[in-house]
Amino acid sequence: MRIILLGPPGSGKGTQGDLLGEHYGFPRISTGDLLRAEVGAGTPVGLEAKKAMDSGGLVDDDVVNEMIRRRIGRNDCGKGYILDGFPRTVPQAEQLNAINSKREEVVADIRVADERLVERLSARRVCSCGAVFHAINRRPQIEDVCDACGGRLIRRGDDSPEVIRERLRVYHELTEPLIVFYRQKGNYFSVNGEADVQTVFAAIRSKLKDWILEN
Ligand code: AP5
Repeated sequence: MRIILLGPPGSGKGTQGDLLGEHYGFPRISTGDLLRAEVGAGTPVGLEAKKAMDSGGLVDDDVVNEMIRRRIGRNDCGKGYILDGFPRTVPQAEQLNAINSKREEVVADIRVADERLVERLSARRVCSCGAVFHAINRRPQIEDVCDACGGRLIRRGDDSPEVIRERLRVYHELTEPLIVFYRQKGNYFSVNGEADVQTVFAAIRSKLKDWILEN
């Protein structure tokens, strides 16, 4: 089984992906995290990707497709996996199908209005260990310190108001067409992502019951 989390920047794909991963025992694969690791390591892919990421644009399809092909071939994906932030364009979705068309697939679209997303992302704080916080909704116990590892929390470089606006523009232009793409395939559902985290999680799980058998 592969669960694809669709939704605009800040809709909660990472937050819900972690909860679903824990619940079903699937790894969460985030192309954003994979790309940030390349940027952090200063690889040629990272240096190229950084330009697009800093400006709110998308990294080249071929680069991301290859990254996903390698990642989903790893052993931990045998039972299933969760894709967070991939596919993000129709050509990426077609490529995913070409890499592995046999895997059963379901798409959960987390819907949140743009105004809400700007507020959420401006207040997001992240740790290099991957933990995500929010200055109002999910505060760390000690200000600017990660509850999980004690690391220092920072604001992501692309969470500035002007880059957030560009990410939303790119989402509407290039990623939203995937809604029609997956609706036509018949494996799509949406949930209201404006409710609190646990309510959204319960809504996704309830819809996933049509696809995934639970004990
Ligand atoms: P990526 O890291 O994937 O960023 P994104 O898609 O813009 O999504 P975010 O990580 O910003 O948000 P999220 O939906 O995961 O929300 P979160 O759970 O953190 O990609 C970054 C960049 O990499 C892209 O711009 C692009 O350049 C490049 N890239 C990545 N994938 C690519 C691809 N496939 N092709 C080409 N380029 C690619 O939550 C956000 C905040 O809200 C947090 O503070 C959280 O605590 C809070 N929150 C979450 N849920 C709730 C809730 N229900 N109520 C209140 N607050 C909530």
